[in-house]
Amino acid sequence: MNRISIKLGLLFLMFILIIEAALFFYLYSGLANTRISEELESLRLRGNSHREVLEKHHDSATLNHVALMESEAETDVVITDKTGGIISSSRPLIQGARKAVEKWKGKSLTYKGEIMQGDWKSTPYIATASPIKKGRQQFGTVYMFKNTNDIHEMIARLQHHFYVAGAVSILFSIVTIFALSKFITAPLIKMKKATEKLSQGDLSVKLGAHSRDELGQLGMSIQSLANELQRLRKERNEFLSSISHELQTPLMYLKGYADVARRPSNTPQERDKYLAIVEEEAGRISQLVKDLFQLAQVDQHTFFIQKQKVELATYLHTICAHFHLALKEKEMELDISCSQGLYISLDPERFQQVIINLLDNAMKYSKEGTKIDLMVKKSAESLTITLKDQGIGIPEKDLPYVFDKLYRVEKSRSRKSGGYGLGLSIVKEIVEAHGGEITITSETGKGTTVEIALREDG
Ligand SMILES: Nc1ncnc2c1ncn2[C@@H]1O[C@H](COP(=O)(O)OP(=O)(O)OP(=O)(O)O)[C@@H](O)[C@H]1O
Ligand SMILES: [Mg+2]
Repeated sequence: MNRISIKLGLLFLMFILIIEAALFFYLYSGLANTRISEELESLRLRGNSHREVLEKHHDSATLNHVALMESEAETDVVITDKTGGIISSSRPLIQGARKAVEKWKGKSLTYKGEIMQGDWKSTPYIATASPIKKGRQQFGTVYMFKNTNDIHEMIARLQHHFYVAGAVSILFSIVTIFALSKFITAPLIKMKKATEKLSQGDLSVKLGAHSRDELGQLGMSIQSLANELQRLRKERNEFLSSISHELQTPLMYLKGYADVARRPSNTPQERDKYLAIVEEEAGRISQLVKDLFQLAQVDQHTFFIQKQKVELATYLHTICAHFHLALKEKEMELDISCSQGLYISLDPERFQQVIINLLDNAMKYSKEGTKIDLMVKKSAESLTITLKDQGIGIPEKDLPYVFDKLYRVEKSRSRKSGGYGLGLSIVKEIVEAHGGEITITSETGKGTTVEIALREDG
């Protein structure tokens, strides 16, 4: 009873039955009434035609002739004189006709004929009366009678037809409605099963082809939800295995050097050297964990951007000042071109990370003596921050993946340069959380350009 197809089906069926019953009743009573009116009308016309003959020839021969005609027909006739006395009638006469004629004696009648008994249900006959007139004077009446058996039979036949038609149409309605409701609810049931599977952790949901209606759209949403969950699960697994892989190497170093440092044969200098390596490796792990934590924060939808208006030139100069020493050491030059008085709203804490990571890359992946350009351009509705270096560049095949977590062009370089491939993923997340867009272009051997477009209102 709890199946939606049954509920829908019963509801439809109830409505259809009510409508069908009303229509059938209307049709049936209309047909029955028309047939009975036709019977009464033909009886009246028959009486009128006898009356017309009798008006022309009111003699006993004609009277007998009319009576004889009606004796052979299904109808009966009673002819009275002007006092109401019966002067002729067909034989055998329907029961109760004489009494009725007695009763109707003296009733005023219109010339076109009157229906004397139209109630076919409770009396055994229907009857009409047509006055016979000469000038204004009535000198008799033709009463016509007809047995209602025929009418009862006709109505019974009609009822029978209606019962058959009704039963067939109800049967058809039941079959059609249940087939239809099954057809409508089938995709719903499929989706219910799919979401059950999803909630149990089975993401291999296939909902197949869909219609374009609301149900189809719902199915498509469930399918894309399942696909997205599947993608996320795959990504998470890959990420976890990369992380454990990344941790493996420094931990191996830690363990190895700690073992070596423990040897009693070590001179104090040797021990210091080994402990310095242990410290360095521990530092690397700690950096990785810090980056991961930051990424996790940025990744969450709860990541909260607290924007405030900043004057861009001052802001950028302050951040870049931290790189002063490192740049000098590498004999590199940083050129900042940003006009004064440009205000933009951003989260200064978070956005600082973007500039730091990008500058870090530009320095890390450039040779000594090269130059880095940091430029800010303002157009009608957006503001572009560009960082351009003259470094080693990124091969075209790697370019689409540099924003992926833990992606590095040269894995082997990582120990030397110290990166884990998280910098650009963090940058991208922060820029997108600001409603901005980041693009990277590069040419191996020539340099890399990173462009951040921020909307003025954002
Ligand atoms: N300016 C650049 N020039 C050349 N290669 C770059 C540049 N920026 C990024 N890359 C390449 O893209 C990879 C990913 O960069 P990303 O900043 O995400 O990681 P990372 O610098 O290796 O490590 P981390 O930033 O986590 O310390 C880098 O390993 C490097 O190969
Ligand atoms: Mg980096």
